[in-house]
Amino acid sequence: MSAPLIDPFARAIEYLRVSVTDRCDFRCVYCMSENMTFLPKKELLTLEELDRLCSAFIRLGVKKLRITGGEPLVRREIMTFFNSMSRHLDSGALDELTITTNGSQLARFADDLYAAGVRRINVSLDTLDEQKFADVTRWGRLPQVLKGIDAAQKAGLRVKINTVALKGFNEDELFTLTDWCAERDMDLTFIEVMPMGDIGNEDRIGQYWSLKDVRAQLAERSELTDLAERTGGPARYIRMEETGQKIGFITPLSHNFCESCNRVRVTCTGEIYTCLGQEGHSDLRAPLRSSESDMVLEDAIRAAIALKPKGHDFDYSRQRVDGQVSRHMSHTGG
Ligand code: GTP
Ligand code: 5AD
Ligand code: SF4
Repeated sequence: MSAPLIDPFARAIEYLRVSVTDRCDFRCVYCMSENMTFLPKKELLTLEELDRLCSAFIRLGVKKLRITGGEPLVRREIMTFFNSMSRHLDSGALDELTITTNGSQLARFADDLYAAGVRRINVSLDTLDEQKFADVTRWGRLPQVLKGIDAAQKAGLRVKINTVALKGFNEDELFTLTDWCAERDMDLTFIEVMPMGDIGNEDRIGQYWSLKDVRAQLAERSELTDLAERTGGPARYIRMEETGQKIGFITPLSHNFCESCNRVRVTCTGEIYTCLGQEGHSDLRAPLRSSESDMVLEDAIRAAIALKPKGHDFDYSRQRVDGQVSRHMSHTGG
């Protein structure tokens, strides 16, 4: 293996999130605008290019690879890519190959994901109410996602649910969601809504529900134990002693976690974003396409990591959405 990737703040980069498509079959209100224009196919990295790129990162010490989108399972032939990536699990170079999905296509792909070596997946789900689900995704069908989650569990995949905490939207479902996950032996992670994309009519400040409040409400019902264990992502976990279940908190607003950041993101066009909450990025598609030499690509990756900023600057407390990033979340896959 080449020398590992260390950023200017001495953080080792071991987690790569790769978006394989900007497309999605949903349009979650906090992620995309209703009339998104998607990229023409020729702009996208091919599956072979994605493979070469991910393999370069793995040579440079990446241990955890998460496939994102848009919705990754709407990319054509995506299983070819997963099947190919599984060689890095077999060789021991990669510890985890995983995916964040909206669940809509899971019923079709769960067995194939397991066969490719995926063991744990994250599924985005903000409500268990059919009408609210259709509203927040703009037209998604909840039963289809629930069927997908069942199929994933049947296939042997461990499922973690990601719920964006939204004031006035899913506050009343806090315990419905935790109980539902406990019954199914699924972990649940809450995420604070971040100011990204063209917000349009959306009122992010009004929607912001601090996870400090969520935690306080959970504590009213059950003793909570802070857990030291991590999944390599930004979530901090607690155990609800009442049910024994694990709940995660991703708190980019109320408790910045940039100090321990171990990850970078690559878009489906081959741009590397070294911070979700910053606009700075570098191009990896040109080095990928201009030379067959992996040295050129590795040098470009190192040069990008050398520019990784200290952290993001989201802050609703100033009563303005300062630090807003104009990029849609779907561009870099969250
Ligand atoms: P685990 O492997 O289960 O820990 O997953 P993960 O949390 O790393 O991945 P997931 O795709 O489930 O990410 C959940 C969400 O956390 C993302 O979509 C983002 O909204 C948020 N998130 C992840 N990393 C960062 C980060 O570096 N900065 C900020 N601000 N948010 C992040
Ligand atoms: N703020 C917080 N989380 C978001 N996600 C998408 N957009 C936002 C946002 N503006 C989450 C999705 C999914 C993950 C990939 O990112 O709900 O779980
Ligand atoms: Fe699609 Fe996920 Fe964005 Fe929703 S949050 S529009 S499911 S990519």
